[in-house]
Amino acid sequence: MSAGHVCPHCGSEMDPIRTPIESSWGGEIHHICFNDDCSYFTTSWKALEGQGIEKTGYRCRMDPRGGCGPAPVWSEDALKDLVVKVDTEETSSLAWFSPHDLARDDETPDGVFYTKPRFVDHLDSCALETVEQIYGRLIPANATILDLMAGPDSHLGKVKDPATVVGLGLNKTELEANIILSEQVIHDLNRDPRLPFPDNRFDVVVNTVSVDYLTKPLEVFQEVSRVLKPKGLFIVVFSNRMFPPKAVNIWKASSEKQRVEIVRRFFTLSGRFAIQGYQESTGKPRPKDDKYYGKGIPSDPIYAVWGKSIHKQTNSSN
Ligand SMILES: C[S@@+](CC[C@H](N)C(=O)[O-])C[C@H]1O[C@@H](n2cnc3c(N)ncnc32)[C@H](O)[C@@H]1O
Repeated sequence: MSAGHVCPHCGSEMDPIRTPIESSWGGEIHHICFNDDCSYFTTSWKALEGQGIEKTGYRCRMDPRGGCGPAPVWSEDALKDLVVKVDTEETSSLAWFSPHDLARDDETPDGVFYTKPRFVDHLDSCALETVEQIYGRLIPANATILDLMAGPDSHLGKVKDPATVVGLGLNKTELEANIILSEQVIHDLNRDPRLPFPDNRFDVVVNTVSVDYLTKPLEVFQEVSRVLKPKGLFIVVFSNRMFPPKAVNIWKASSEKQRVEIVRRFFTLSGRFAIQGYQESTGKPRPKDDKYYGKGIPSDPIYAVWGKSIHKQTNSSN
């Protein structure tokens, strides 16, 4: 249902769509006139045809932040898959990602896939060093930290005197090997996105090379905010390697730049974070200790997005 936006060209009710990831429009939602008889659409279609450009036209697009513009389309149905069919602001945020976007090839319980411990390197040593530097720089001394979706390796070696590091993951053997952890919690976030921790427990939550496996990311981000202290920090670091059957469809279908946008939207659409920063480390030389050294492949790229919790339910000091 549209929020009362009417096309200035034909007077039809416009439909809200999720902003296409590849567009430069900005914002989360735009309104589109899908009336095939709208003069804006029919005129542009014919004009482009006259220039030899077939099956392309423009629909009228309205930005809820103000202003109108063209939305390029290549068929009558183009962009219709992005229509948000909900009627409140909060649920339209949650519906931004379609069920297909967040589905995976392997929908068997994650506990089955992760029964076997995987002592594999997810990143080369140069990329690992970058991740450690990011955490070392952003995390204050004596912090209470949750490592969300933790494995056998810690990337918190440069953090000064952490008070506590709790690791939440799916494999007990992996978590037992992670020597920095003071507490290990086995919990499947895709089965139950609620975090088994009280409100306001942590100063910082980190998530390393794992955000692509979340099938309920907005709920998980909201939960992260709940367990963070007011203004607590959530740092999400990712690269380009993955276990494809377990990664969500939208991640696999997106470029690295689009994935940055996806993670930014997890933060903003959850409604519980203000994004604080972004760092990208790409194109560094492959380290000599790596099996791909000398094969013309750069070091694994690292992207980090971090945000400050702005939740209000349990905190009056925000
Ligand atoms: C690629 S590994 C990354 C491990 C670790 N964060 C690191 O940087 O080395 C992905 C991790 O996500 C965890 N994981 C995957 N699916 C999960 C789920 N549904 N719930 C909780 N943890 C999950 C697994 O336990 C696994 O250790």
